[in-house]
Amino acid sequence: MLAYRHAFHAGNHADVLKHLVLVQVLRHMALKDKPYRLVDTHAGGGGYALDSAQAQKKGEYLQGIARLWDVDDAPAAVTDYLDLVRAFNARQNTDGGASGGAAGGSLPLRHYPGSPAIAQALLRPMDQLRLFELHPTEFGILSDHLGHARGVQLAQADGFESLKGQLPPPSRRAVVLMDPSYELASDYARVVDSLRDALRRFAEGVYVVWYPQVSRVEAGQLPRRLQALAPKGWLHARISVQQADAQGYGLTGSGMFILNPPYTLHATLAACLPWLVERLAQHHHATYLLDQHVV
Ligand SMILES: C[S@@+](CC[C@H](N)C(=O)[O-])C[C@H]1O[C@@H](n2cnc3c(N)ncnc32)[C@H](O)[C@@H]1O
Repeated sequence: MLAYRHAFHAGNHADVLKHLVLVQVLRHMALKDKPYRLVDTHAGGGGYALDSAQAQKKGEYLQGIARLWDVDDAPAAVTDYLDLVRAFNARQNTDGGASGGAAGGSLPLRHYPGSPAIAQALLRPMDQLRLFELHPTEFGILSDHLGHARGVQLAQADGFESLKGQLPPPSRRAVVLMDPSYELASDYARVVDSLRDALRRFAEGVYVVWYPQVSRVEAGQLPRRLQALAPKGWLHARISVQQADAQGYGLTGSGMFILNPPYTLHATLAACLPWLVERLAQHHHATYLLDQHVV
């Protein structure tokens, strides 16, 4: 049985980077008047209460979304992402009967949207959302959040395996978000293997992979292994903002690796990452990496 629960980590610095990039990829997909399919292979619960016991245990969101909540000098793409998180808070507060408040800094930060909720806010009626989540409890929460939403199909199933049946989509436009917990060391190899298979089925897809910056050989090797899969181009963005613990462990940062990235993404992130790292830095050597290979 898997033990990982994203509620402990929701809204942390890794979620900020991941969801900032996801929003920009989906914005780009919506520029064309043709439907696309988003496959979220590791969907999680869809949305999280930040006052829950899990979120409060280490308060990871305090070093992530909470540091951005009241800013008024954010780059445009960060503001776009923050507006979506604010809209989610306003909706959840209304649904839960709590006082909603106005958009912007006066709205209390109580909730954090998972990737399915962010996607749902951005997908158009013609687009499709396919969600896979293995953990029974998370799947139940996800079903409560999005089970009846239009254009959404979800399954309690292995996301790596299920991806095979999703490609290519009828519209021949797709984004795949692959966001494993890496609780199992085998996840690193499964990311590479399932992307290799996915590219064989649908070479034109946009593949978005999140990975942790941790002291583990497989994590360090993953970007190079992904580069080798991407003959048509890739983009790699990483932020390193947290110090390892006394034993040298911990999530010091995280990266997003995109195969077939939107051509505008590099410039958009170049305008965001220095600002973001400054805001999220937990030590003086916080830094970022932004690299791409265009064919
Ligand atoms: C990092 S969380 C996902 C967070 C979510 N994508 C977001 O951004 O809000 C990873 C999730 O993958 C689930 N999971 C782990 N292995 C899986 C697998 N093989 N297939 C599908 N889900 C899996 C875990 O239960 C966990 O909920």
